[in-house]
Amino acid sequence: MTSAVPWRDAWKHALYGPDGFFRRDRPANHFRTSVTASTVFAEAIARLCAQEGLGHVVDVGAGGGELLAVLHGIDPSLRLTGVELAPRPHLPAAVGWTDELPETVEGLLIAHEWLDNVPCDVVELDDEGVVRLVEVEPDGTQHLGDPYVSDWLDRWWPLTEPGARAEVGQPRDDAWADAVGRVRGLALAVDYGHTLDARPPYGTLTSYAEGREVDVAPDGRRDVTAHVAVDAVAERTGATLQRQRDALAALGVDGTRPPLDLATSDPSGYVAALARAGEAAELRARGGWGDFWWLTTDTRVPD
Ligand SMILES: C[S@@+](CC[C@H](N)C(=O)[O-])C[C@H]1O[C@@H](n2cnc3c(N)ncnc32)[C@H](O)[C@@H]1O
Repeated sequence: MTSAVPWRDAWKHALYGPDGFFRRDRPANHFRTSVTASTVFAEAIARLCAQEGLGHVVDVGAGGGELLAVLHGIDPSLRLTGVELAPRPHLPAAVGWTDELPETVEGLLIAHEWLDNVPCDVVELDDEGVVRLVEVEPDGTQHLGDPYVSDWLDRWWPLTEPGARAEVGQPRDDAWADAVGRVRGLALAVDYGHTLDARPPYGTLTSYAEGREVDVAPDGRRDVTAHVAVDAVAERTGATLQRQRDALAALGVDGTRPPLDLATSDPSGYVAALARAGEAAELRARGGWGDFWWLTTDTRVPD
């Protein structure tokens, strides 16, 4: 007798069930993101809003509200709303907090590292060339289940080698299409991901806890995440795709070190500028956050 269920069900329960990981705990207690690592990311988002004339920011999967808190400090005239399943953290009273997406959003809808946490089916090609659903027990033990047929898989992630695995991204496409459909303004998803020319052969299912990568298991005591098939999401939502390093560069985020003479003329200014340059460089780094994808849909543009 096994207690194995499809990954999508186990994942959903582990993160978002009554005692789920994200219901009990804040992401920042377990891993760093571009949003929580420095204020430079929020400053770029504030600049984007100013450039685009957007006065309301809705942050989906807002975690501990870190992005919104910094945005409020930069521009108190911005209307700010966090959409998050976890309880409201300590935030300025002006910041709104809800567990459901608003019906309509006029402004910027941003989802930073949300889609990678949207649970999806995991499948594997068996030795007979049949794609099968992967089932998992709470301790992470996995079994191959029933044969699995999916148009999404055929189109976006065909499996050819026995043992090859995929995460079926359809629920991410659906989730983001639903969110984008509510927006009059800009919708921006930022996440780690891959495209058809470079899918990882064995998928990317991963767990994190307390600052470290740990064995993958849907036990509610660790994050469960998988990279996003960003080209599928982009096609579905009419989004443009660019790397974070390019998007941030276009918003004036510059990782260049300050000139050395500043160290003599203004030592504390030099130290502050150096720290800031380091943070900007980390957000734009190859092999790190700079490789993240920005999916931008401008819903003000007529089709
Ligand atoms: C990886 S964390 C990202 C937190 C923050 N945006 C950051 O980048 O630091 C994902 C967050 O999305 C939230 N989340 C997942 N699905 C959600 C949903 N349907 N509605 C609201 N929040 C959701 C989780 O509770 C979790 O806090």
